[in-house]
Amino acid sequence: MTQAVKQIYLVANWKSHKTLDEAKEFVTGYNQSSPHSVILCPPFPYIVPLANIILENKSPLKLGSQDVSNYPFGAYTGAIAADMLRGLAKYCIVGHSERRKYFGETNDIVANKVRLALDADLTPILCVDEPYLESQLAFFTTDELRKMVIAYEPLAAIGSGKPDTPEQANEVAHRIIELSGVDIAVLYGGSVTTETVNDYIKEPKISGVLVGGASLNLDTWTSLVAAAN
Ligand code: PGA
Repeated sequence: MTQAVKQIYLVANWKSHKTLDEAKEFVTGYNQSSPHSVILCPPFPYIVPLANIILENKSPLKLGSQDVSNYPFGAYTGAIAADMLRGLAKYCIVGHSERRKYFGETNDIVANKVRLALDADLTPILCVDEPYLESQLAFFTTDELRKMVIAYEPLAAIGSGKPDTPEQANEVAHRIIELSGVDIAVLYGGSVTTETVNDYIKEPKISGVLVGGASLNLDTWTSLVAAAN
């Protein structure tokens, strides 16, 4: 029996960094080809100008947002509804631990966001952590999970330089797949670098990485994507 080749996702989460000019310079200068899905998640205001550059330059980058509103179109001042991202972004990070910590996002809020993202044809990249896997995944049906990507992001590993080992991350990814009941793509996130990216993606249950710090500098990100080839 032939085994399906697993799709690999390399996701850059810029968080709340970069000026507009810096963001444009990065995308204009990026030209690393890759067999994988290379997804850039910039701050909201940069999505439109970067989408234009990507189109003009036929850039291999795909765009994602870092968050989305838990409300649809309507009287919700300041909110970015999932439907507004149609045609601009393909992916959408949801429930990052920084959103949960600094913006009070609960599992209910996160579940709403995921559903609205799915309704708007975005692929949610749902961030989960190991102690809460069951409760965080219990909100979703098998059908919903099938359309999602999960990012396992251990809190202690984010921005700390202290990542999980690839073996530990693979074990958790395995549990996530078992709990989901579908062969869902699971990414690892937390202090991934150019030097370590391959160690994660070669693990059988890991389908990519979610990268913060090492995605900010063009040369570093280019070398990380090249290393993952
Ligand atoms: P890091 O961030 O790569 O800087 O650890 C990862 C994340 O928060 O998604």
